[in-house]
Amino acid sequence: MFPVLSISLRLDRLHAAFTALFGNKLSFAPLDDSPPTSILEIGSGSGAWFVRTEMNAARRFPAARVVAVDINPLPPRALPRNVEFHQVDISQGFPFESSSFDVVHARLVMMHVPQPEQILERAIDLVKPGGWLIVEDPDDEQMLDGGGPLGPGMDALLQGWFRIFRSRELEPCIGRRLEEILERSDAFAEIRVKKVTIPISEKSEDDNLNKFGKAWRANMICTGHDMPRRFAHQGITEDVARAYLEELEDPARCLTTDMYFVWAKKK
Ligand SMILES: C[S@@+](CC[C@H](N)C(=O)[O-])C[C@H]1O[C@@H](n2cnc3c(N)ncnc32)[C@H](O)[C@@H]1O
Repeated sequence: MFPVLSISLRLDRLHAAFTALFGNKLSFAPLDDSPPTSILEIGSGSGAWFVRTEMNAARRFPAARVVAVDINPLPPRALPRNVEFHQVDISQGFPFESSSFDVVHARLVMMHVPQPEQILERAIDLVKPGGWLIVEDPDDEQMLDGGGPLGPGMDALLQGWFRIFRSRELEPCIGRRLEEILERSDAFAEIRVKKVTIPISEKSEDDNLNKFGKAWRANMICTGHDMPRRFAHQGITEDVARAYLEELEDPARCLTTDMYFVWAKKK
């Protein structure tokens, strides 16, 4: 059994798993080849990617101005001089000029915002020519058990979750559409995509991937515990969450989901 962690702690742990997957870097994009001087972190959460953890953008690129936005406040902490945070609802637009940043990064954010395609278009506009847009999101519709359908407990909760999110114009499966949206913008000289199948039940032969799967599962467990508080009135009751959690923690299962890492260089 995993403990139920605070959102900040769980995002920090997930960040550590992401950076390990990148080979102790902040993304698959070759940012070190030409270190950025301006960076925007969209939907910064705990601040893990840009300031809070061992491996963060402000520390990795100390000469860069690092700006972060989130609809929620940043957990209190002193910020280094090269860092600023703005509380912004990105569905209402960004308070920045076109072509303001060498790097724009959004991880696990597009799946949480209404009409993500429109928001991505605005994010693309913020990247300078020659700069990088980095977007990373899963496709939880591709969550499988042993390559086949999920058990009834996980399926019931996920279908309920997809229904609720779609009723709010969110796309929980945006990961698989990222490449197509970026292609359509015609704004990029190069678009790179890496699809990683996450071994949620830690049954990969690759230890690094299993570590990522463990962190992902821990996050899913916390989310499962939290869902009835937020969504019981929309059908995700304690019973639904319990059945989901039992299957999620069942060692006989072989759960996987797909995560899309996209990094694209602006023309
Ligand atoms: C799953 S968290 C990911 C946090 C961080 N990117 C990371 O990878 O650790 C999603 C974040 O998106 C933020 N978010 C959701 N809707 C938003 C909106 N409309 N405007 C700005 N931020 C938003 C949430 O507050 C949350 O911090």
